[in-house]
Amino acid sequence: MKLKLIVARWIHKFLIHTELMTKNMRSPKTIGLSWVARTLMNYSNAQVSIDIVNRMKLKKTDHVLELGVGNGLAIKEIAKISGINIIGIEISAEFRRKLHKMKLPKNIVILENDAKDLSNEIPDGSIDKLLAINVIYFLKPIGEYLLEFKRILKQGGIGYLGCKFESIKDFDIEVAPNRNEKEIIGQLSGVGFNVSSEFVDLGEESSRYSFIRFEKQ
Ligand SMILES: C[S@@+](CC[C@H](N)C(=O)[O-])C[C@H]1O[C@@H](n2cnc3c(N)ncnc32)[C@H](O)[C@@H]1O
Repeated sequence: MKLKLIVARWIHKFLIHTELMTKNMRSPKTIGLSWVARTLMNYSNAQVSIDIVNRMKLKKTDHVLELGVGNGLAIKEIAKISGINIIGIEISAEFRRKLHKMKLPKNIVILENDAKDLSNEIPDGSIDKLLAINVIYFLKPIGEYLLEFKRILKQGGIGYLGCKFESIKDFDIEVAPNRNEKEIIGQLSGVGFNVSSEFVDLGEESSRYSFIRFEKQ
């Protein structure tokens, strides 16, 4: 295991319950803790990102949107398949700066919006596939975001969530209020999505996750 991952995990272990650490896991900002958050995400989410993108069964012509691009792990996988513009929504200026420094494929467009309201950028019913890995926990109030997902998805369009509920169970509840899988599924169903979920175990503790699929009927 790389030394920087060991150090990041060690610091995180002591600060996991704190509001400040959870805020940095939502959107890295604070000097030092921002490094911890980005390092953990980079190492812990790589395998999961590849697995989820495989499960999305993307077509070359799909219009894809990823919410919470972070280190760019999943969007780079999407770009290996998609031949058209891929939209990444990333509210964190720090992540956007890093993403712009990386040599991302030209068909990736990164937007800085809060995903609660994408109406200035994304037309109604224009997205085939929507992905959000480790993001849903932080969306507040969740109902407004789910309605926005419904607005932008095409009829028959599908959203995918990757969630590590076990890893985030000690996050600060004010910053990460959506930590219960059943409640999230209930809320997705409540706005009219057809929802299913599956627990995926890729071997390591950090690569066990719930794969939630929701379809606009
Ligand atoms: C825990 S990180 C996950 C990053 C990446 N998906 C991964 O799994 O490694 C949460 C991401 O969602 C973004 N984010 C959080 N709330 C957001 C919002 N309301 N609108 C857009 N992006 C948001 C953060 O900036 C961050 O990139």
